Amino acid sequence: MVELALPKNSKIGKGKAWTSSGASSVTVGNGNTMTFKIYRYSPDGGENPSWDSYTLDLDETGPMVLDALIKIKNEIDPTLSFRRSCREGVCGSCAMNIGGRNTLACTKGIDEFKGGSITIAPLPHLPVVRDLVPDLSNFYAQYASIEPWLQTSTPTPEKEWRQSEPDRDKLDGLYECILCASCSTSCPSYWWNDNKYLGPAVLLQAYRWLIDSRDDATGERLDELEDPFRLYRCHTIMNCTNVCPKGLNPAKAIAEVKKMLVARTL
Ligand code: SF4
Ligand code: FES
Repeated sequence: MVELALPKNSKIGKGKAWTSSGASSVTVGNGNTMTFKIYRYSPDGGENPSWDSYTLDLDETGPMVLDALIKIKNEIDPTLSFRRSCREGVCGSCAMNIGGRNTLACTKGIDEFKGGSITIAPLPHLPVVRDLVPDLSNFYAQYASIEPWLQTSTPTPEKEWRQSEPDRDKLDGLYECILCASCSTSCPSYWWNDNKYLGPAVLLQAYRWLIDSRDDATGERLDELEDPFRLYRCHTIMNCTNVCPKGLNPAKAIAEVKKMLVARTL
């Protein structure tokens, strides 16, 4: 029988175990502890990735997973790398895979995890720059490709572009997207075709401009999307909607784009 083996450089090794007092496996505090098992990778030195474990006293740690990461970086291991900015679910930069699910570290409570440990990895199926920092270059290039700005052919008004309340309401559930990429990187279609399929986040953003009553480039935008890969690689798997930490529905937005394409042929 053929034995399949992973290439040597794709195997994840066992890493170090740390506590608040340094690299050891001693239990800390009064027993109210959580062990954070974190994916570590450095492009320097040619070492394989590893899982490092950090055991924290939760009585001395803030309530969110991001609080734990900041505590680890500030007090235990300054080499740990991750992105964060707003720490309140607005900037999208702290998206990562926590406990097997893509989400935002700053809005994910540590108390949502039972069993004494939490596994934290970078967003899946993206190249890793370092530790929990994924390379989002392709994601942002795809976002730029949909030209995410207002395009008009009517004369610029003296004050603002007016919009009726019902038309403004159509942007609800779309404008709240913070481009965290949690949805796209949880989508199997995007995993296998991320060079050609735009993915749920970018398609939701595309729909946000298609449905904007002030935008005059609807036809051109639809032309760009009418493609077997860019749009139609969505197979309604629904992971995107299931995982979105802002409670949005990218799958519905994609379905609406498909309906617009059908409607213009009738
Ligand atoms: S739709 Fe949700 S999961 Fe996807 S990028 Fe926007 S906020 Fe993140
Ligand atoms: S730090 Fe901004 S969304 Fe988490």
